[in-house]
Amino acid sequence: MNESWSRRDFLKRSAAAAAGLGIGASAFSAGSYARIQGANDRVHVAVAGVRSRGAEHIGSIGNCTHAFIGHLCDVDSRYLAQAGERVKTLFGALPVMEKDIRILLESKDVDAVTIATPEHWHAPMAILALQAGKHVYVEKPPAHNPAECGMLLRAQKKYGGLVQMGNQQRSSPHTQEIMQKIHEGLIGRPYFCKAWYSNNRTGIGRGREVPVPDYLDWELWQGPAPRRPYRDNVHPYNWHWFWHWGTGETLNNGTHEVDLSLWAMNVTYPGLVSADGGRYHYQDDWEFYDTIVTNYEYGDRMITWEGRSCNNMLYYNRGRGVTIHGTGGTVLIDRNGYEIYDADGNRTAAFEKPERDATTGLGGGGPMTDAHFQNFIDAIRSDQPLNAPIGEGTVSAMMLLLSNIAWKTGRDLHLDADSARILNDNEAMTLWQREYEPGWEPRI
Ligand SMILES: NC(=O)c1ccc[n+]([C@@H]2O[C@H](COP(=O)([O-])OP(=O)(O)OC[C@H]3O[C@@H](n4cnc5c(N)ncnc54)[C@H](O)[C@@H]3O)[C@@H](O)[C@H]2O)c1
Repeated sequence: MNESWSRRDFLKRSAAAAAGLGIGASAFSAGSYARIQGANDRVHVAVAGVRSRGAEHIGSIGNCTHAFIGHLCDVDSRYLAQAGERVKTLFGALPVMEKDIRILLESKDVDAVTIATPEHWHAPMAILALQAGKHVYVEKPPAHNPAECGMLLRAQKKYGGLVQMGNQQRSSPHTQEIMQKIHEGLIGRPYFCKAWYSNNRTGIGRGREVPVPDYLDWELWQGPAPRRPYRDNVHPYNWHWFWHWGTGETLNNGTHEVDLSLWAMNVTYPGLVSADGGRYHYQDDWEFYDTIVTNYEYGDRMITWEGRSCNNMLYYNRGRGVTIHGTGGTVLIDRNGYEIYDADGNRTAAFEKPERDATTGLGGGGPMTDAHFQNFIDAIRSDQPLNAPIGEGTVSAMMLLLSNIAWKTGRDLHLDADSARILNDNEAMTLWQREYEPGWEPRI
């Protein structure tokens, strides 16, 4: 990470904007821009993908100090227009609204890009943004496949911008506090983490090939993904359940809780990954499992991830969370608190935070998302480290991408624990990367 690069660039942009030089094709005239009090002291953020999670990005950036949204990007003109009005309410002026990220990235008025698009776009867009000299906040998963994790890491090193991954629980004070206590020996040596997520999603039916609606640029929506005809059960949101664009419940939600498990046990990759499950509830176009159990075995410890997309039976009255079991006790943690148990299973302490975060709700917003964005903004403006730098973020994402590969191949994956590469299984390794639409391959 190159901090001096970040500050120098931010200050340069601030100076240019202050002189009225950096406004370019912006919706702001020099006069209206100057009227936005303090605009030049703030990190200028562009949000890409503004519907569900992107709307949370906008709200959280609105709650940050020293942050300003001057640009939005979306390929659906309906969501773009709605988000533009919201930004106007929050920041005092309509932002520049653009459907093509490549055009938006030409603007010198943008310091940082936040990405909440479908997942086939995450790494390619983050790489383009880094090449354009921007800092990046990229939603989890930062990549659609393992190879893209490596590309994104190389791009970050080459171009030097900051990259924060959207695993916002890394910025949650109660989580930071209990993790430190676990590292100091609160429950002895932690050796088993059980991570879960449950929801009661409906089926997505059988899609039909229909004309592309006039509000959507389907060519740009597809971007790096090889072309397919438009179908009426993909956009918005249901792309999550198709391999071509999404990564299933495992990356959609497991990334958060498996990340906590890695953090608690201070480990990276295991030697063995196995995953079982299926699409058990509905018969429809959904290509992933709706029920999955994945085991990560390290030899002296393990992590289990359980995802249930279509049955919202709670564990410990929580739709998502992690239990961390050690030689001296157990910690139960979720987005809104934690409980501590002794080795006999007696609860000895508990904490519940007063201001609640969304748990299994789709946009996932709340105070820890605000804090995660504030950390990103502060890291751009000062020497404060990122709470979820992409180097650590890709480890968590890779864990879940490997779960998907284990499930798809139906085989146990033996890993090189340093690189996470799959040993002695050429078929599984074919899923390490994807094919791109010609001309859209990410280049570093
Ligand atoms: N961190 C969290 O808690 C959290 C919560 C929810 C979702 N997410 C992540 O956020 C991402 C978005 O998920 P969602 O549920 O909001 O999806 P969504 O389909 O509801 O929204 C995606 C938006 O991106 C737009 N889009 C598509 N292609 C684009 C492009 N090329 N350029 C600009 N905009 C484009 C779409 O029009 C849509 O507005 C996913 O990766 C998801 O995993 C994270």
